[in-house]
Amino acid sequence: MKFFVDTAEIDAIAELHALGMVDGVTTNPSLIMKSGRDIKEVTAEICKMIDGPVSAETVALDAEGMIAEGRELAKIADNIAVKVPLTWDGLKACKVLSGEGRMVNVTLCFSANQALLAAKAGATFISPFIGRLDDINLDGMQLIEDIRTIYDNYDFSTEILAASIRTVNHITDAARIGADVITAPPSVIKALASHPLTDKGLETFLKDWAKTGQKIL
Ligand code: E4P
Repeated sequence: MKFFVDTAEIDAIAELHALGMVDGVTTNPSLIMKSGRDIKEVTAEICKMIDGPVSAETVALDAEGMIAEGRELAKIADNIAVKVPLTWDGLKACKVLSGEGRMVNVTLCFSANQALLAAKAGATFISPFIGRLDDINLDGMQLIEDIRTIYDNYDFSTEILAASIRTVNHITDAARIGADVITAPPSVIKALASHPLTDKGLETFLKDWAKTGQKIL
């Protein structure tokens, strides 16, 4: 399973990258706003650091506008994945941009039928938003499972990029179901390392070690 980091914060990406944890990065207009940086400038910096796909999102609502913005964003680096929303115009833009050989991430997916359309339009990635479905009492993980089944049934090559991940359990479940990629905030990826029994065990070991009076260095 590939790990993408869902942020435009350079330092946070660099910290995880140093451990080999970053296969790609996703950004969106809200994350760019939070970073306080210029989209082209910060995206170029991320693309220089990370070899894998770096998603940069268009903001036009019509297909022509998305295509023009997508081409502009793709000039930043070869590893840009143009992110378009799952609307009819977004699908049109996806078809054109993927036909030009660009990576396209179709985002804001909330149903299996939407995911089916994105695959048929040639999307490189489909981004189903788990957390936002859970937020309104629907089952985000069920959507990942449905899309996995449908894509496998018909051998679609579009990768399932489980997005809007809020908890470590979302990552476990997405991995169990077979999502190709997860994108999560740095804090959630770091939380994967935590376990209370690890902390407790370490505390006991260190107490016992102190009793031996020994030193390693
Ligand atoms: C995905 O590409 C989105 O940037 C992101 O996962 C949205 O997450 P949120 O619902 O926590 O904002």
